[in-house]
Amino acid sequence: MAAISIVRSALAVALGMVATAVRADGDLVRFPEGYDKGVHYATVERGGIREELFTSREAIEAARSGRPLPSGTVITMEDHRDGKLFRYVVMEKRAGWGTRHPPELRNGEWEFQAFHPDQTVNRNETVTRCMTCHKSREHQDFLFTLDRMKAAQ
Ligand code: HEC
Repeated sequence: MAAISIVRSALAVALGMVATAVRADGDLVRFPEGYDKGVHYATVERGGIREELFTSREAIEAARSGRPLPSGTVITMEDHRDGKLFRYVVMEKRAGWGTRHPPELRNGEWEFQAFHPDQTVNRNETVTRCMTCHKSREHQDFLFTLDRMKAAQ
């Protein structure tokens, strides 16, 4: 019995360490499987760049009625360069998120992540840069395309 409980607590400690390591690494945002079954609410084109933006029906409804986007909202942007998928950038908002960042960086309850075309995390992108730029949109829930969401069908 004692041996089993030692194994159990060792396992609990190990699992706890894994959870902490993942958090410390900044990987709260997972690749949003099935994002393209949500609402495709905008396309942005600029030079050789084409971006396709997706979010949930719930987020679009909230934006249209002027309510804050709900906890659990995920926004996915496909970033195509010269006709080829270059990366994905994702924002996800959850109640209680964001507290790990200093106030000058924190974007409310949003967390950010970039992914390669094969959907693995893109470690070349520093999430601090995402947050610094999106921070300028604090008056619009840290979003650049809130107006496009409001106008979406
Ligand atoms: C230099 C400023 C800048 C940086 C850095 C930046 N973004 Fe953005 N982001 C924008 C702009 C501007 C848009 C609106 C689309 C457009 O015009 O390209 C946008 C749009 C988005 C959107 C769609 C929702 C919205 O805000 O409209 C997501 C999701 C997103 N960015 C995630 C990220 C992630 C993740 C990173 C970091 C890997 C990042 N962004 C870095 C400027 C930035």
